[in-house]
Amino acid sequence: MNAGFPERRSRTADKSVLIVDDEEDIRELLELSLLRMGLGADCAGTLAEARSMLDGNRYHLCLTDMRLPDGDGLDLVEHIQHHWPNLPVAVITAFGSIETAIRALKLGAFDFVTKPIELQVLHRLVRHALKLQSPGSPGTVSDNMCASARELVGRSPAMTQLRVLIKKFARNQAPVFIHGESGTGKEVIARLIHSMGARTAEPFVPVNCGAISPELMESEFFGYRKGSFTGASADKDGLFQAASGGTLFLDEVADLPLSMQVKLLRAIQERAVRPVGAQTEQPVDVRILSASHRDLARLVSENRFRQDLYFRINVLTLPVPPLRERLEDIPDLAAHLLARLAERDGNPVHTLSPGSLSALRQHSFPGNVRELENLLERACALAENNEITAEDLGIDLSDRSPMAATEEENEALDEGDDDMEEISGDECAQILKTLDETRWNRTAAARKLGLTLRQLRYRLQKWGKD
Ligand SMILES: Nc1ncnc2c1ncn2[C@@H]1O[C@H](COP(=O)(O)OP(=O)(O)OP(=O)(O)O)[C@@H](O)[C@H]1O
Ligand SMILES: [Mg+2]
Repeated sequence: MNAGFPERRSRTADKSVLIVDDEEDIRELLELSLLRMGLGADCAGTLAEARSMLDGNRYHLCLTDMRLPDGDGLDLVEHIQHHWPNLPVAVITAFGSIETAIRALKLGAFDFVTKPIELQVLHRLVRHALKLQSPGSPGTVSDNMCASARELVGRSPAMTQLRVLIKKFARNQAPVFIHGESGTGKEVIARLIHSMGARTAEPFVPVNCGAISPELMESEFFGYRKGSFTGASADKDGLFQAASGGTLFLDEVADLPLSMQVKLLRAIQERAVRPVGAQTEQPVDVRILSASHRDLARLVSENRFRQDLYFRINVLTLPVPPLRERLEDIPDLAAHLLARLAERDGNPVHTLSPGSLSALRQHSFPGNVRELENLLERACALAENNEITAEDLGIDLSDRSPMAATEEENEALDEGDDDMEEISGDECAQILKTLDETRWNRTAAARKLGLTLRQLRYRLQKWGKD
C-alpha cells in the first residue's frame, strides 16, 4: 500500500498531472489551478513519493520543483526520461536560476516555469504539454513526425542521427542553433522542430537577420508605438509579438550587428520586449531557433559575435551534414524534389536516367540540396521527354557548378573580401534573367540561383546594379 502517500484526488478528469513540490502552499496553488482547468492532479512532496505515484498511475504531465528533501528535480527528469519517455516533464525553478533550467532541458525536460509562478505562464505550458500528449490530436509528436518526415528527406546514417536529435529537441523549449553549409536544409529543419513540438498550432516566424537594415532592426523585432518616429502613424507589433506563443527563427543569425545582439539577448533573457517609443516592456513567450553557415564560436573568439548571446541561443546544437557527406541520400532527395517541381508546375513527374543519377553521385554539391534542386529544375526544362539525361543536368564534373558558391567563397564574402574570383558574363546574364523572373525580388532570386542573399548582393554591387 502507498501508506502515507497522497491519494489521487480527481479520477473523473481524463488528463492528469503529477505535481512534485515540497512546499505545501505551492502544491495547493498548482493543484487548484489545474483542477480549474478541468484536469486531474496528484501531489507528491518528495522524490520517493513521486516515483511511487508514477509507478501506480498514468499521468499526462509532471511538474516538478528542483529542490526536494530527498534529492533533485533533475534526478526525476532523468528517471522519467528513462522509464516514461513519452511523459512530458516541466521543472519549476527559482527566479534567476536559468542555468539549472537549461540543464533540465538538456536532460529532456519539456519546459520550465520560474518562481514566483505566474498562472498565465503555467496555463500556457500545461496546454502545450497536453496538446503534445493528446492521442490523435494534430499536435501529437508521433503524428507530426510522420507528416513532416516526408519533408525532410534522407535515410543516410547522418540523416537518421539528425532525425533522432530533431525529435528530442522538438519536445523541449530550449533554444536550438542549427549549423550547416548553405542549402543543407537548415530552414526545413527549423520548421520541422516547430511543427513537431508543442507550439505547432502557434506561428512560426522566420527572419533573415542579414536582410533587415540595421536602422530598422529594433522596430522590426520589437515593434513600435504610434508617433515614435516620422511615419509611425499607428502602433505596430514586431517579429517577437508576431511569433507570440510560437517560434522565432533567426536565420543567418551571425549577420546581426553587435548593437542588435545586445538588445536581442535582453529580450530573450527577460522574455519581454519594449516596442520603440513605449515606456514599458511587454512579456513575450517565444521559442528561439537560429541558424547560420558561419562558425559562431570562431566569431565569438574574434569578438564579432557576443559570447553571452552565443551561449543563450546555442543551448542545443544541431550540426547539419553537407550533401557530399551523404551522397546516398541523392536518389531519395532527387525523387522528392522532382515530385515537388512537377506538383508546382502541374507537370508529370520527371525521372532520372541511370547516367544522370551516376553524374549526380559524382558531383560534390558545394551548394548542397539547394544546388541539387536548381540543377533538377533546369534539367526538367531542358529534357526532351520525361527522362532527365546526364546532358540535361549539365554538371561540370570538374566539380564546380557554375552558380553554387563554395564555403571558401562564402567566407570570403562574409569577410568582405574583394579578391573573389571574377564572375563570368554567363553568370551575370543568368542572374539578371532570374531577377526579371522574380520581379527583382532579391531573396527569391537568390534562392532560385542557389546563392545566399549576401552573395547575390555582392555580385550586384560589383556590377553596380544594387
Ligand atoms: N533533407 C531535405 N529534404 C527535402 N528537402 C530539402 C532537404 N534539405 C533541403 N531541402 C530543400 O532544399 C532547399 C534548401 O533548403 P533550406 O532553405 O532549408 O536550406 P538552408 O540550409 O536554410 O540554406 P541557406 O543557408 O542558403 O539559407 C529547400 O528548397 C528545401 O526544401
Ligand atoms: Mg536558410
